[in-house]
Amino acid sequence: MTSTAVAHPNIALVKYWGKRDDALILPDTGSLSLTLDVFPTTTRVTVDPALAADEIVFDGAVATGSPAARITAFLDLVRAQAGTAARARVETRNSVPTGAGLASSASGFAALAVAAADAYGLDLGERDLSRLARRGSGSACRSIIGGTAIWHAGTDDATSYAEHIAGPDLGMVIAVVDAAAKAVSSREAMRRTRDTSPYADAWVQAAEADLALMQRAFAACDLTAIGELTESNALRMHAAIMGCRPPIRYLAPQSIGLFDAAARLRAAGLEAYATADAGPNVVFVCRAADVGAVRDALTVDDAAGMPADRLIAAQAGPGAHLVEAAA
Ligand code: DP6
Repeated sequence: MTSTAVAHPNIALVKYWGKRDDALILPDTGSLSLTLDVFPTTTRVTVDPALAADEIVFDGAVATGSPAARITAFLDLVRAQAGTAARARVETRNSVPTGAGLASSASGFAALAVAAADAYGLDLGERDLSRLARRGSGSACRSIIGGTAIWHAGTDDATSYAEHIAGPDLGMVIAVVDAAAKAVSSREAMRRTRDTSPYADAWVQAAEADLALMQRAFAACDLTAIGELTESNALRMHAAIMGCRPPIRYLAPQSIGLFDAAARLRAAGLEAYATADAGPNVVFVCRAADVGAVRDALTVDDAAGMPADRLIAAQAGPGAHLVEAAA
């Protein structure tokens, strides 16, 4: 049984940062994101009862150690649901720089959830696929959904999933400050924030309030409110992270400069707002129709220091889907 699925990364406007259940990956708060049409991950899963162990290949190289263990643990969840012990071969091709804060774990586990569920013969709807993807990486539950998605924090495994949320047509421009893998994974940094940052509780309260405000801004299709909340929410998350001990600082000097560049674009009449995940790259949020103009404006903004080939324009993309179904 072979199934292949494609999924895209998503970028949160209200961030997920903190778990209240590490095993089930239940978040402290809900979050809201845009799934993009760039950097797809393609994952092919072949269930093969003849295999003694799962075989995992990332971009042509056999995976070992903890990345492989994480995939096997995820497949164990699928096998438990399917009532089989059969092992699988997993081949993944990523076009997103892995570990660079461009959400490769989100597209990765979303594609794996869709391909593995199909290969193991599970017939899951969007909500159950989102719950399953969440168990691999929290943010992956949002990449199951196309376009804008809200992840309801929920109170247990059944109630914590993402679904579509209506709002304005948004686009993004990704500024790749550094494509190298980050020094501290978001999983580890999230844990350290909870355990050592004096701002962790304040962040959780603020994120909850931001999500309620963001839902209102979406309902009103109010880009200014959406953008201002996006920028502020990201900076609050980074403030909580910087409060860790030992400290973690994801934003590079150039990242901060790009927040200033967003302000310059707005002053010139082009609405764009900056956000950043657990890495130095900065993502600009704007109207879908303005993506080209935002990219062009950043290209000629000397202080931003971003060559055109490191500015990636993106629109809303599809949710994770099968491209080859099990026969
Ligand atoms: C900063 O989903 O990678 O991108 O659940 O531990 O796998 P785990 O974390 P992950 O964290 C993403 C954090 C973020 C914010 C977001 O996408 O909401």
